[in-house]
Amino acid sequence: MSENKIDNNCLSFCQPSEVDLQKRDFLVKATAATGAVGVAAVAVPFVGSMLPSERAKAAGAPVEIDISKLKPGEKMTAEWRGQPVWIVRRTPEMLDKLSKHDDQLSDPKLEVPQQPEYCKNPARAIKPEFAIMLGTCTHLGCSPNDNFAITADWDGGFVCPCHGSKFDLAGRVMKGSPAPTNLVVPPHQYLTETTILVGDDKKAGA
Ligand code: FES
Repeated sequence: MSENKIDNNCLSFCQPSEVDLQKRDFLVKATAATGAVGVAAVAVPFVGSMLPSERAKAAGAPVEIDISKLKPGEKMTAEWRGQPVWIVRRTPEMLDKLSKHDDQLSDPKLEVPQQPEYCKNPARAIKPEFAIMLGTCTHLGCSPNDNFAITADWDGGFVCPCHGSKFDLAGRVMKGSPAPTNLVVPPHQYLTETTILVGDDKKAGA
């Protein structure tokens, strides 16, 4: 068999037929499509990891809270690290009552460090008008209910439905409560007059 003969055979064998070309086109397109799906499948979790909100919050990223709509005597609830953050805008009467019942409190002088140093004052606040605290009972972690109505024997505060712990409007626990300590005041700072940042206090009290 001569080399020419072989080459000719090879040519007739190796040249793609019409059917082969169609198969090749199909395979190229199919491979490209599979690659695109692969990229999409990889891209979704990547984009997901870039979304800041839920995962970042759970990890403890600071949370900005707009308090501009909060009226005197009202409370709003935000969330930080999966816990409720209460912001109470106290009225002058509410603030006045805070100094009237130290004898009923377990830790009126705030000796247990349940607040940042810059909130170690009777209002437990940077600005007395705004109380900022975690709405989690220090007994077993229930969320106390509001009881803001001031009466002859109650200066306003919170009552835990689980085992009856009572807290005043600065989150200070009343004597006789099963909760051992005051509610926690989280680290925070004011970014503007009406925006607070909870979870970051680098500039607080400066
Ligand atoms: S969890 Fe609040 S009193 Fe027990």
